[in-house]
Amino acid sequence: MIFSKINVLFHCFLLLILVVGPSAADVSHDGRAITINGERKIIISGSIHYPRSTVEMWPDLIKKAKDGGLDAIETYVFWNAHEPLRRKYDFSGNLDLVRFIKTIQDAGLYAVLRIGPYVCAEWNYGGLPVWLHNLPGVELRTNNTIYMDEMQTFTTLIVNMMKKEKLFGSQGGPIVLAQIENEYGNVISSYGDAGKAYMNWCASMANSLNIGVPWIMCQEDDAPSSVINTCNGFYCDQFTPNNPNSPKMWTENWTGWFKSWGSRNPNRTPEDLAFSVARFFENGGTFQNYYMYHGGTNFGRTAGGPYITTSYDYDAPLNEYGTLNEPKYGHLKNLHDVLHSIEKIITYGDVNNTDLGYYNYATIYTLNGTSSCFLGNSNRTNDAMITLNGVVYDVPAWSVSILPDCKTEVYNSAKIGAQTSVMVKKPNEAEDEPSALEWKWKPEVMNETILLGKGPISTSKLVDQKAINDVSDYLWYMTSVNLDENDPIWSDYMILRVNGTGHIMHAYLNGEYLGSQYGTYGVFNYKFEKKVKLKTGKNQITFLSATMGLQNYGGGYDSVGTGLPGPIEIISRHGDETIIKDLTNDEWSYKIGIEGLNEELFDDSHTKSGSDQWQSGELPVDKMFTWYKTIFKAPRGDDPVVVDLLGLGKGLAWVNGNSLGRYWPSFITNEWCQSDPCDYRGPFWEYKCGTGCGEPTQRYYHVPRSFLKEGDNQLVLFEEFGGNPSLVNFKTISVASACGAAYEHHDMELSCHGRSIREIKFASFGDVGGSCGSSRRGTCTSQKDALPIVQKSCIGKESCTVPADEKTFGETECDASISKKLVVEALCDI
Ligand code: GAL
Repeated sequence: MIFSKINVLFHCFLLLILVVGPSAADVSHDGRAITINGERKIIISGSIHYPRSTVEMWPDLIKKAKDGGLDAIETYVFWNAHEPLRRKYDFSGNLDLVRFIKTIQDAGLYAVLRIGPYVCAEWNYGGLPVWLHNLPGVELRTNNTIYMDEMQTFTTLIVNMMKKEKLFGSQGGPIVLAQIENEYGNVISSYGDAGKAYMNWCASMANSLNIGVPWIMCQEDDAPSSVINTCNGFYCDQFTPNNPNSPKMWTENWTGWFKSWGSRNPNRTPEDLAFSVARFFENGGTFQNYYMYHGGTNFGRTAGGPYITTSYDYDAPLNEYGTLNEPKYGHLKNLHDVLHSIEKIITYGDVNNTDLGYYNYATIYTLNGTSSCFLGNSNRTNDAMITLNGVVYDVPAWSVSILPDCKTEVYNSAKIGAQTSVMVKKPNEAEDEPSALEWKWKPEVMNETILLGKGPISTSKLVDQKAINDVSDYLWYMTSVNLDENDPIWSDYMILRVNGTGHIMHAYLNGEYLGSQYGTYGVFNYKFEKKVKLKTGKNQITFLSATMGLQNYGGGYDSVGTGLPGPIEIISRHGDETIIKDLTNDEWSYKIGIEGLNEELFDDSHTKSGSDQWQSGELPVDKMFTWYKTIFKAPRGDDPVVVDLLGLGKGLAWVNGNSLGRYWPSFITNEWCQSDPCDYRGPFWEYKCGTGCGEPTQRYYHVPRSFLKEGDNQLVLFEEFGGNPSLVNFKTISVASACGAAYEHHDMELSCHGRSIREIKFASFGDVGGSCGSSRRGTCTSQKDALPIVQKSCIGKESCTVPADEKTFGETECDASISKKLVVEALCDI
């Protein structure tokens, strides 16, 4: 009897859990930190944008983020991806936001939802749908009711979607913070009083949605106290929120930078990134988000800009393909571990800062009689010896040391104790894969446009490309000019002049190609001038305009011109006289897209016209507007796959109908790169330490594993500029070698990430010099030879751990002031 009562009670209890679900948390904040159920937390977060990877990649990316010591994943919400046409929504595939947040929840992490819905993010048009721009009477991101109604409709839709799935912390879900707008404070002045009114409206509209967790606004010093204003930048240690009850929060710590066509590869050193984080926590920060933790890929037409590359790698801790970017990943993980170990003391303790001169500082947190110390050296060139409680610590220039017990240095931001991994791209080793791919091709059919000028849309004035179309990069602009020899403009020497606002333009006269023109990142207004020979009678003038990602940033960015707003003129000279015929206000007709795209030639399963029209035989090269397709086998294993498009010009690529994004390997990075090794010391800016000058801006394009299948796979290319696909090949990415490093009294950890350690090429304990690949013994080394000791512990294993101490390697003759370290270079089985 008693038993059955207990049993009934137990079942009632279970039922209660099922009905109520996971217990709701009280997420709030005070002036020091975000609080969860009344307890102050430090939250280390990282940005992963769900559409920049695939559903299949999400669990692994999030697990790696958790293993890397993160507490939270942050994402924007991408309005124009979810509502491509007004009130027609898409939350399928990698746009499944609910699934993404649930994947974060399943991993036991918090989520930060930056709804925006203006997001910037190097995303097409900053995330706003182009149809919004075309609503009559609308003005974007200001006090305009048409815009605000649409923004509220979308924001409410997202909030309700999260609420329905109980995803807010207040409902037991993972979302602990939500963001409205994005960096509005950076541009507010360009909107005058209306900007201020709009910003206040954003805050009250957000608050009216009752999400039960705090709202934030980033880079918004004027934010009302009902929301928390936060900082974005490479450094935020000097930031103070505008309200004493707001904690010091950093929503974007840029881990590297984005890339545009023609620009260098960004490299932000792990030392500088770790320094910025340590300095932020030293100075009272309690929430920090890496932008990006995984950058990923701008698939399809999602890249913003204009001229942002398809890769959004960002030099983030997880690279574009989702593998560890070492030593950045590991060096930050070590920092997160030590910060978590002192969470209580830095969120509750009393703080005492001492300026030691020469840009040296000691910050001591004390709680209930115990203390944790930070020793900072912001000097850009001089290393420091800082004395604390009678002990001398070596704090290199531009670094912070953390001593959780104020005695032992557990972490220093400039002393990397994580491995460096050297990645290689291996050829496709799939069985039966021929050494060169076999191609079929098909020219794009253009007679209607370039010869006849026929298009379904017409206007009596040139219009901005956004006014007509954003469903395709491509828009044809067509007009005709009737001339006879009595026309005042008639001459043997006429010039066609086009004022364009980007992003790429191809010009034709009577079916003949005249030339092309494009801008570059930041400079996209151009003038195209070409000497032309017009005929008597009708002359057909046609332009193909192609976008490379719509502008995503700046005050009034949404009205920046795109395409060919004109003027477009014919100019002739008669002696000293110049006669201009302005075609801007003539009849223009337009055609959206190009035939092959409209016919979906990129996907055999959809192809509307017969695929038998593809030709084989001698491969056409350097031919503009050519479609190419080939069959290939997926590389074995599960290493990430890339396609090498060297030899091609510019265009679009698909694998099995999935868009890989825009390609442009012929765009060589024509900037200057410094030749000296990168010095981590001193403030970082976007292009410090850039690499890749003189090389294709982007040669390799990610092919996520889930795009591939067993057996035959299809690659389709639409080549716009003309190129040669005969060198195209698939490769896999893996760790070829790894260098481990650990300072004395720490463990040296080395991993070949799923493969065995094949050989130890170098091992030394002392003041080792050089860098990974060129390590050399220093002036003082251990008595025992480190090589056989490390070989014994590591060879044949996937990973190994060796303590860096004199017990293992014997005494060294190193001076007491030298920070001894164990350095190992290993080769992996590939
Ligand atoms: C910030 C913006 C982000 C991103 C970043 C640069 O200003 O908030 O969305 O664009 O710059 O990567």
